[in-house]
Amino acid sequence: MGTKLFLPLLLGTNREGRESEKVARWLFEKMKTQEDIETAFFDVRDFKLPDNDYGESLKDMFSQYKDAIVKADGLVIVSPEYNHGYSGRLKSILDLLLKEYMHKTVGLVGVSSGPWGGTRGVEALLPVVRELGLVVIKRDLRFPLVSNIFDEKGNMKSEFEELYAPQLQTFFGELIWMAHALKNARNLTPLESSARVKMMK
Ligand SMILES: Cc1cc2nc3c(=O)[nH]c(=O)nc-3n(C[C@H](O)[C@H](O)[C@H](O)COP(=O)(O)O)c2cc1C
Repeated sequence: MGTKLFLPLLLGTNREGRESEKVARWLFEKMKTQEDIETAFFDVRDFKLPDNDYGESLKDMFSQYKDAIVKADGLVIVSPEYNHGYSGRLKSILDLLLKEYMHKTVGLVGVSSGPWGGTRGVEALLPVVRELGLVVIKRDLRFPLVSNIFDEKGNMKSEFEELYAPQLQTFFGELIWMAHALKNARNLTPLESSARVKMMK
């Protein structure tokens, strides 16, 4: 489909011993095999946030993230489910930017030790990503009972590779389609003409 899409991945928890890291690292490797996708790995653990501020006033402290999202055609978020929500750290990182996300796509990936694969955490993210101007794809990836899926080295067990292969294909298919569609739309109609961006000025 022509030029590559830049779709960074954001790992959404800094918890010691996080299982979500295994999912994120596995998915990152899969993304790198997609010929339409260029990617980069962001980990909320690497952001040294101040403890008395939030939001866009901090964005210049995190220029690598900012520059990546400016360049990006979308984002993939790997989020554990914490009490049917997502981590506070993930919210703080997402809040660093606003119009940089605008009219770009997002794919959501839920991780849980329970049987629902982080679905409720993913659902809780929907109003947040919408407010950021991201356009969410219909298909999520879900990793229930996550400690059964990977071995102690973080490799996915072979039976799960088989299970996830078709899900990945659909997820990437939708993500790539939506990222291209939005990229074409942004090229056709510059962001500055969007009513929402005008309101932000
Ligand atoms: C504060 C907290 C709340 C949690 N709440 C849920 C939950 O609501 N549902 C669930 O299935 N698992 C829940 N878990 C378990 C996580 O889903 C589990 O640790 C999983 O491995 C993903 O999170 P991790 O990447 O931090 O390991 C919770 C874990 C923590 C630390």
